[in-house]
This record gives sequence, C-alpha cells and structure tokens, in this order.
Amino acid sequence: MKVVAIVGSIRKESYNMQLATYIQKRYTEKFELEVLSLRDLPMYDQDVENEAPQAVLDFKAKVKAADAVLWVTPEYNGTVPGVMVNAIDWLSRVDKVMIGKPSFIMGASMGNLGTVKAQLHLRDILFSPGISSPVLGGNEVYVGAVHTKFDAEGNLTDEGTVKFLDQVIENFLNWMQKYA
Ligand code: FNR
Repeated sequence: MKVVAIVGSIRKESYNMQLATYIQKRYTEKFELEVLSLRDLPMYDQDVENEAPQAVLDFKAKVKAADAVLWVTPEYNGTVPGVMVNAIDWLSRVDKVMIGKPSFIMGASMGNLGTVKAQLHLRDILFSPGISSPVLGGNEVYVGAVHTKFDAEGNLTDEGTVKFLDQVIENFLNWMQKYA
C-alpha cells in the first residue's frame, strides 16, 4: 500500500510535518508513506490549470499514484490553512485525481482542541464534487498541546497518543483495502 501525506504547514519546524514524519518512520513495515511538502506549490490559477506549472503536475502525479491520502492539518483561525486549500483546489480540477481515493485526516495544534474545527471543515471540503473522497470516520486524531508532545528528535513522547495512533493506523489500513 502506498500512501501520500499532505501536510498543511510549510513551516520548517512544523509539528504537523513532525507528526507525518513520525508516522512514516513508526509504521514503515506496515505501509509506504511519502510525505509531500506544499512549499513549492504555486497559487491555484484557473487561467493556467490546463497547462499547469511542473510543480503542480509533479504533485498531482504523486497523489494520483497513491492508494490513499493522509491529510495532516494545522488549524489556522479556526479552519484549514490556505496552503492546504490551495492544494485541494489544484487536485479538484482537470484530471480530478482525488475522486474515489480514500482519505484519512489528522492534525496537531498548540490549542487543547487539536484542530477539531479545521478537521470538520476539511472533511466537508473533501466531499465536494471535484474531490469526492471517501473519508475514514470514527478514528479522528486530534493532537492538542502538541508543543508538549514531541522531543528534539521529532519523536512523539506522549504514550497515550502513540497507543491511539497504533490503533487508528491499523484501522485505516484495513479500511482502505476495500478501495484498492
Ligand atoms: C494558529 N494557531 C491556532 N491553533 C489552534 O488551535 N486554533 C487556531 O485557530 C489557530 N489559529 C492560528 C492561526 C495562525 C495564522 C497561526 C500561525 C497559528 C496555532 C497553531 O496551532 C500552531 O502555530 C501550530 O504549531 C501550527 O502548526 P505547525 O506549523 O506547527 O504544523
């Protein structure tokens, strides 16, 4: 199984990027996870969507080749960060590579609610016609107070969160098989 992680923060020390990278390392025996950065993705522009910049084509090709997408989102002003919405806009047009591709959402924030609002909004966006992605329910991962949960090497030190991740990743891998 090949999964890509789309991380909604381009900050160098991003906790959401650390979470995606941690998952990539911890479950490397279970599935292949490629963590994509949105840093080089230009702003969506309908004028050029049919001859999109190479960075867009490369990004879309990686998503297209994946069996599923893991969305790892921060929460900005109570919703999904613009860089992530921008990525979704590109994915929703022309060849619409997300249609039918399963999604799993998680997120980390410094607040106690761990991106709950952003994830609710993201789930709704992923159901829009140009994306139409089935989203795993009942396994929400809200990592709150994230600045207290990683060590300097990017390891998740909160045992409860690690245990929970072990279970939901297993559930995700079992669930996504039926779309393969
Ligand atoms: C935030 N942050 C934040 N946190 C939260 O729980 N709810 C929110 O609505 C917001 N809003 C918000 C807006 C903007 C513009 C910034 C820069 C930050 C704090 C946020 O959780 C924190 O910066 C995280 O560290 C962002 O994720 P990364 O970059 O570490 O992955």
